[in-house]
Amino acid sequence: MRPARVILNAKSPLINTPAWLALLDHYERVKKDHMVDLFDQDPKRFERYSIEFNDMLLDYSKNRVNDKTLELLFDLAKQAKVEEWRDRMFSGDKINNTEGRAVLHTALRNRSDKPIFVDDENVMPLIETELDKMRAFSDKVRSGQWIGYAGLPITNVVNIGIGGSDLGPNMVCRALERYAHNNIRVHFVSNVDGSHIDQMLSHLRPETTLFIVASKTFTTQETLTNANTAKKWFLDGAGRATEYDIAKHFVAVSTNEEAVKEFGIDPRNMFRFWDWVGGRYSLWSSVGLASAIYVGMDNFIEMLEGAHEMDNHFQTAPFEENIPVILAMLGVWYGNFFGAESSAILPYDHSLRMLPAYLEQADMESNGKSVDREGRQATYSTGKIIWGAEGINGQHAFYQLLHQGTRLIPTDFIASVQSQSDHQNHRDILASNFLAQTEALMRGRTIEETRKQLEEGGIELHKAEQRLPHMIFEGNQPSNSIVIKKMTPRALGSLIAMYEHKIFVQGIVWNLNSYDQWGVELGKKLTNNILEELESGENHYEHDSSTKGLLDWFRKNRNDGG
Ligand code: F6P
Repeated sequence: MRPARVILNAKSPLINTPAWLALLDHYERVKKDHMVDLFDQDPKRFERYSIEFNDMLLDYSKNRVNDKTLELLFDLAKQAKVEEWRDRMFSGDKINNTEGRAVLHTALRNRSDKPIFVDDENVMPLIETELDKMRAFSDKVRSGQWIGYAGLPITNVVNIGIGGSDLGPNMVCRALERYAHNNIRVHFVSNVDGSHIDQMLSHLRPETTLFIVASKTFTTQETLTNANTAKKWFLDGAGRATEYDIAKHFVAVSTNEEAVKEFGIDPRNMFRFWDWVGGRYSLWSSVGLASAIYVGMDNFIEMLEGAHEMDNHFQTAPFEENIPVILAMLGVWYGNFFGAESSAILPYDHSLRMLPAYLEQADMESNGKSVDREGRQATYSTGKIIWGAEGINGQHAFYQLLHQGTRLIPTDFIASVQSQSDHQNHRDILASNFLAQTEALMRGRTIEETRKQLEEGGIELHKAEQRLPHMIFEGNQPSNSIVIKKMTPRALGSLIAMYEHKIFVQGIVWNLNSYDQWGVELGKKLTNNILEELESGENHYEHDSSTKGLLDWFRKNRNDGG
């Protein structure tokens, strides 16, 4: 007989704690309350449930909460000791308990004089050295002083990485396009499907291309495969480059110097970061090199400053005014009490088009866990499914389900007021859609309103009655509106840090270690086994009939006949 699948008898006690039970009780009282009534009862609801932070406004008034709900949610955060854990994180305590590591992406953007210690070493000088190195290098590339082997400046930068070594800098480059260098383009290759790198390289010339191989571990199969293909393209290309020229065209970003050397990159061309920076929190480190080259180091630093300001806010504001805490606890409210399974990120700003993908990793790789810190089974929902797309496109695609589907899906609507484009009419149409959608989700449309509309439309009575139920909107769909004056590096830094801390707070409330990711290991191991079998044509491992059938089908139909 196979061993039991569920081996954890111990259960996390969270759902029996006083703050949780109080919320459960409260939920039963308020679960049917409609936001339209809450707005009617309180003309100052917007003023009371919105916060300005620098150039950002968070309006959380379109949520299914009242003062009591918020009070109880903050009690839960206090019971979970969010403040203590927060201070431990910022001070370099090893809160990543399964890997014995500190969690210090906040140190990367520490713009104060405060030292931060890991194992009795102040890490701030290390960070400053790396930032200086990034500045020197990015300045040279941007000014054309960094010359390739054929005597030409760099015009194309290709970042080869995946996950946190791709999504972060990629998202930042898109978000800050208005600050981009005029003559340097930045590309990102992540997929090991050879057509990704082929497509990219087909537009490029080895003489003017710089590759950044970004990998925290420098063991990631997809990244190393792409990096080797890039190296081969570089050396075999028409330009007659030699091994000696690699130093001018390949740099690495990693924590693993040995592996970087082994790949053939001179450690002098290596930009470092450290094991206390999680991959999905690494865009503030030298993983941000591609973005620093693209937008310039001053803008990169401004982004760090924006994040640092959000760090200060998170560390000092009382829960009632603390943006990440409020967002986190609203998420807990919907996930754990209303049973919401997903949450959507809906940017109304083309420059933020990659934000949903970025936050999918940040959130789901952090809080997609079913075992608590003490190794006990979580008997409550943890990380929600995070998804999203540009809101305006979503309106014409999936919003139907947000408005009239059977599920509760809390949403974050994100917009910037000053658009990148000069088309004022476009800007106002976009903003009106943003505003109208959150209003529609909240208000819905009653039977009376719907009937009146049908009557005004002059539809025959029997047809109108038939159509009526399909046109009613329940409403009461919660949304947060996050509005930014202009998508500057500073605002972007604050926005991302806000989400990082939201994820942190939720992880603490659910008693998770948000900073490991053991769930990605098994697939990697099985990939290696199957790769061995695909390459050798032999069967070495036991598989279920589905995997075996699929493997055989792949083998039979490969285009190399192998
Ligand atoms: O497999 C998941 C993961 O480890 C992520 O956590 C990480 O961001 C990504 O792979 C890339 O890892 P690396 O930077 O070490 O190549």
